[in-house]
Amino acid sequence: MNRGLGHSVVKPLLFLLCLLPAAWLLWAAVNDQLGANPAEALIRSLGDWTLRFLVVVLAVTPLRVTTGLSVLARWRRMLGLFVFFYAGLHLLAYAWFDQGLELAAVVDDVIKRPFILVGMLAWCLLLVLASTSFNAAIRAIGARRWQLIHRAVYLIAGLAVLHFFWMRSGKNDYAEVAVYAAMLGSLLAWRVWRQIQGSRLSKRI
Ligand code: HEM
Repeated sequence: MNRGLGHSVVKPLLFLLCLLPAAWLLWAAVNDQLGANPAEALIRSLGDWTLRFLVVVLAVTPLRVTTGLSVLARWRRMLGLFVFFYAGLHLLAYAWFDQGLELAAVVDDVIKRPFILVGMLAWCLLLVLASTSFNAAIRAIGARRWQLIHRAVYLIAGLAVLHFFWMRSGKNDYAEVAVYAAMLGSLLAWRVWRQIQGSRLSKRI
């Protein structure tokens, strides 16, 4: 299985697969298939895809460890960059269709609406992670510090759920928020459990 998934065509195929939601949304927008409120549908769908990719990227390590599929580690950076890609499109769609590409209007909205502020904080942290995800940056920062910086992904996950929760609180509609919170919470709990196991093991040795 490791060898099959490690084949040189798999990663480019995965790359194309990750582009499919964006391609579909572009097609739907151009062909007027986004429903009565296309701007809102576009902003929301891009927000949903950002959150889905965040779940996928955080699931890579637990999957790799539990299945022994070491090849999964090779896809992690690309999947992480797709989180940034969809978050960037989500922000762009919001700035364009909600705020008419006016920086002052965006800043005003960030100050006025806490859920927008939380989303913006998550995006700024993603920007830091994306800009330090290349080999040259890792070398410059040092592996230890790089690892510490990249732990911010858990903070991003928390902010993303809070952003979603806050947005839905106006409609009292928490079902989807609960599903994402449960998935991200379980992935975080798995890591905490592994850390505890690891420290117990090292104490025994
Ligand atoms: C990691 C970053 C982010 C994630 C994971 C994220 C995720 C989401 C999700 C899941 C939704 C709800 C979609 C739905 O209802 O199905 C949403 C809505 C929204 N987000 Fe974000 N978001 C992020 C960053 C941002 C940023 C930076 C902004 C703008 C500054 C923003 C503005 C909005 C807006 C305007 C909505 C729609 C609100 C509405 O239609 O009432 N988000 N976001």
